[in-house]
Amino acid sequence: MSDKASIKSGPDHIGIIMDGNGRWAQSQGLSRIKGHQQGVETCRRVIEACQELDIHYLTLYAFSAENWKRPETEVNALMELLELFLMRETDTLIKHGIKLHAIGRIHELPAKPRAALEQAMEATSHFKDWHLVLALNYSSRNEIVDATRAIVKKTIKGKLYPEDIEWEDIKGKLYTDGLPDPDLIVRTSGENRLSNFLLMQSAYAEFYFTPTCWPDFTKAHLQEAIDSYHSRERRFGRTGEQLDRETSLSR
Ligand code: IPE
Ligand code: IPE
Ligand code: MG
Repeated sequence: MSDKASIKSGPDHIGIIMDGNGRWAQSQGLSRIKGHQQGVETCRRVIEACQELDIHYLTLYAFSAENWKRPETEVNALMELLELFLMRETDTLIKHGIKLHAIGRIHELPAKPRAALEQAMEATSHFKDWHLVLALNYSSRNEIVDATRAIVKKTIKGKLYPEDIEWEDIKGKLYTDGLPDPDLIVRTSGENRLSNFLLMQSAYAEFYFTPTCWPDFTKAHLQEAIDSYHSRERRFGRTGEQLDRETSLSR
C-alpha cells in the first residue's frame, strides 16, 4: 500500500440507492414483490457488513417520494415489507448497538409502518456509535422545500435576518441535521443517476455505480466500492500538492 493510501481513512458514511429489485425478479420469471423480499435480505447482510467494515453510518434509500406513483399493490407490498423488517430487526439493531434514524416526510407514511418505525427509533435512540438511516418517502427537493419553510418562519418571527442566512442555517433544517455528509454513494443495477437522493449532502461525495442488482449485492461488492473510494483523491477544491503537503505535515 502506498503512503497516501495507508493514511486514508473512511468512508465513515455510505449512502446506498438500492435499485434493481424488480428487474432481478422479472429476469427469473418472478413477481417484482419477490425481488423486494430478496432486497430485504440484502439489507440485513449489508447492515452487518458495515459493522464488520467499520462503517459507522449507513443510509439506505428505501422508498422515494416518487415511488408512490407505482401500482398500488407494489406500494402496499413495500409498506408491509417495511413494517415487517422493522418489527423483526429491532432486536438485532439493539443487540448490535445501532441507532435507527429516518429521513423523509415520515408523517405521510401509512399508520402501521410509521408506528413500527417510531417504536424502533425509540428503542435504539440511546445508541451513539453506529447509525442506520432509512430514507422513506424521501425527496431532496421536498427536503429543501421543508427547510425553506422552516427558515422563512424564523425570518418572519424576526429570529433570523435574510442577509444572515448561511449554509449552516439551511443544513440545520435538513432531515439529516446531526448526521455527517455521505462520503460515498453507491447505486446498484446499472442506473447512473441520483433519483432525488441526498442532492445537497452529496455535494462532495464520491460515487460508485455497479451493474449488480440489489438482491445480488454482497459484502464483497461493498468492499469493491470501498476499495474504489480509497483509490480516489478527495481534494475539496484544493490542489493535489496542497493535500500532499498537509499529509506529510500531519505525520
Ligand atoms: C428498488 O428496486 C426498490 C425501490 C425503489 C423501492 P426497483 O423496484 O426500483 O427495481 P427496478 O429498478 O424496477 O428493477
Ligand atoms: C430510486 O429508485 C429510489 C429507491 C431506490 C428507493 P427508483 O427505481 O425509484 O428510481 P428511478 O425511477 O429509476 O429513477
Ligand atoms: Mg428502480
